[in-house]
Amino acid sequence: MNENRIIALLHGCNLNLLGERDPEHYGNRNLGELECEFVDAARRHGIRCVTFQTNHEGELIEKIHELRKRVDGMVINPGAWTHYSYALHDALEMVVAPVVEVHLSDIASREEKWRRRSVISDVCDLTISGKGMEGYKEALAWLVKRFEAGKADPSLRSE
Ligand code: DQA
Repeated sequence: MNENRIIALLHGCNLNLLGERDPEHYGNRNLGELECEFVDAARRHGIRCVTFQTNHEGELIEKIHELRKRVDGMVINPGAWTHYSYALHDALEMVVAPVVEVHLSDIASREEKWRRRSVISDVCDLTISGKGMEGYKEALAWLVKRFEAGKADPSLRSE
């Protein structure tokens, strides 16, 4: 049923250092393990994934441009760009498919001055925060449900 579906799993700055970076907030798993788990779970639903991580904001924006009409769903953890990148906001606004914003840590309970605010939430269809790897699984489950409800028709995609 989900054949031909593609989900993009995108990560922004500093998330390449997952596993060694602040494990109390971000857990012990590295990015490769996180991506593998997500890709495997998606595959079990017959969905293919594109994964991408960068520490360069422009590269992430260009990747979003490239994928904006090519995927059926996007899961993105932009790292600190979440809190101030209006360029990222504007790029995500042009994504045709549903977008899920995921944060490993609970940004709503962290540094009040800057980390609690996300400038991209209003252009995302769902925000999941503070659930670690479970948050990614929840994002996938939410997208699968949407696909099954027929709300993201692959024929609308242009490649
Ligand atoms: C993060 C939260 C951000 O505030 C932080 O800059 C990150 C990771 C998270 O997954 O909890 O890099 O997005």
